[in-house]
Amino acid sequence: MCGIVGVAAQRNILPILIEGLKRLEYRGYDSAGVALLQNIDNGNEPTKLAIQKAVGKVVGLVDKTIENPISGLTGISHTRWATHGKPTELNAHPHRSGPIALVHNGIIENHSALRDALKKKGYEFLSETDSEVMVHTIADFCSQGHDLKSAVQEALATFKGAYAIGVVSENEPHRVIGARQGSPLVMGIGIDENYIASDPLALRQVTDRFIYLQENELVEITPTSYHIYDSNGEEIQRDVVQLTEVQENLDKGEHRHYMIKEIFEQPSVIQNTLHGRISEDRILEESFGAEARDIFDKVEQIKIIACGTSFHAATVAKYWFEEWAGITCTVEIASEYRYRKVTTAPNTLFVTISQSGETADTLAALSKAKKLNYLASLAVCNVPNSSLVRESDIAFMTHAGTEIGVASTKAFTTQLVALQLLVIAIGRRYEITEEREAKLVKQLHSLPRLCEQLLALNNDILEMSHAFTEKHHTLFLGRGVHYPIALEGALKLKEISYIHAEAYPAGELKHGPLALIDSDMPVVAVAPNNELLEKLKSNLEEVQARGGKLFVFADKDAGFKDDGQTTVLNIPHCEESISPIIYTLPLQLLSYHVAVNKGTDVDQPRNLAKSVTVE
Ligand code: AGP
Repeated sequence: MCGIVGVAAQRNILPILIEGLKRLEYRGYDSAGVALLQNIDNGNEPTKLAIQKAVGKVVGLVDKTIENPISGLTGISHTRWATHGKPTELNAHPHRSGPIALVHNGIIENHSALRDALKKKGYEFLSETDSEVMVHTIADFCSQGHDLKSAVQEALATFKGAYAIGVVSENEPHRVIGARQGSPLVMGIGIDENYIASDPLALRQVTDRFIYLQENELVEITPTSYHIYDSNGEEIQRDVVQLTEVQENLDKGEHRHYMIKEIFEQPSVIQNTLHGRISEDRILEESFGAEARDIFDKVEQIKIIACGTSFHAATVAKYWFEEWAGITCTVEIASEYRYRKVTTAPNTLFVTISQSGETADTLAALSKAKKLNYLASLAVCNVPNSSLVRESDIAFMTHAGTEIGVASTKAFTTQLVALQLLVIAIGRRYEITEEREAKLVKQLHSLPRLCEQLLALNNDILEMSHAFTEKHHTLFLGRGVHYPIALEGALKLKEISYIHAEAYPAGELKHGPLALIDSDMPVVAVAPNNELLEKLKSNLEEVQARGGKLFVFADKDAGFKDDGQTTVLNIPHCEESISPIIYTLPLQLLSYHVAVNKGTDVDQPRNLAKSVTVE
């Protein structure tokens, strides 16, 4: 989704602004832009704003800055993911009003009313965006005699909605103002230069020291100073966080796309997620943090909230909590939960799951839950220091490493691993016996090796993928805990190959979807050798009887045979406790190969963003 970078320095900052945007590219965007305060003639001329924008990738913006070179000591840059108005140069940020330029992430809900009022005052609008009202509103306060900081403060009080902004003015050439409400913004501290960004990742090439702005805070940076203000305009102090994570290698290496690199990283990142959290036969509860034990002792129910792939992980965890531990667990999509009246049972642990930790709906759900009577909040998350981690009582990190591909792969399987550890930690207080725990942990130890075996099937799956390339619809089927795996398989296929894909619990077939079956509708089935296998087989016979083509990911002993109507991919045998994780991998590979066959933009599929920081 949209990205912001801002810099106040004593050297030409164009390279920092551009590199920052490149580092945020993976989040998804459709246009990019930069605004620099150009100090023409070494300060003998007044400072002028220079703005350049390009539709498409950051590289297009770079080409423009080469054709018409610009430089400056202060500036802002932006990648835009269109919400209000198409991806055009006029709609791209920065937006300008007289001497002022602004970049914005988020949505201003009262933009129509503000636009009408500003038009009446003579402001001319060049774009269809909601963001442009912000820059004119700030300019309007400046024209009434406010300096840039106080004009921004006054303007913010008029906006309803979510924002993170960066603002510069020709009249204050060494200053950048940033502010946030509902969208993330950090400040980076350098040596004789300071920065703002929507994600610290954008600035890791220039600093490792950050201040995470809280809701409704405003920051003013110059090359040698920074000041943070709360919503009352009072200056406040915030702790500096030094990021110590080892810098990952964020290039694609030998791989053609990030997605396939990340699929193949799963054995090692699953190992990383288990590391230090299990002994030979027990889980190490201390790894949940010092406060966890007291909280877990009181848990009577679980509520899990998430979006997209993370919601599918939640759904798997529901089966585990109820089947293994005998603990009631309800799961819900965050965007639904946040807007409805809810009831809470006593001693319910509120769990959120998010790869990014910045998903707007999940954060809003957490904020709502904190006002309700939950026992505590626990986040399963992949990004240290993300908003979700900072705002939850307990954070349990997945150690998937940075996930660049928009389609979540390694984040999902590491979420399942982390959730399984959580189920055992709480479940040992209920129906999970020591003996059962030892068996579960033994299976977890075997996971990385089994994942390697699955990835060795890559070429077989590539071959299978050709049968899907020309199709327009696909149905995914699973039963029990493998139904959410079918959901995840369908989501992967639709988001990167643009083939319509739906998932159903196989038992639901005859209640409607069976009407869709014909020889043109591939049906993918997840078929481990478990107690539901015979039921699943009956469902698949219903498909065959109607001429449907089956693609079955089946345990090698499940008894499926390849014939003209059925293609079988034999999966090595694994225990039921880890099979949802194991069966995910071939479905990821299938989607990947279908997308590559179709020639889509695998890592940045159309219309999607990696981190959904707006509603
Ligand atoms: C996954 O492939 C998707 N891109 C998407 O559904 C994602 O899982 C969802 O937006 C939630 O993101 P989060 O895990 O960062 O909160």
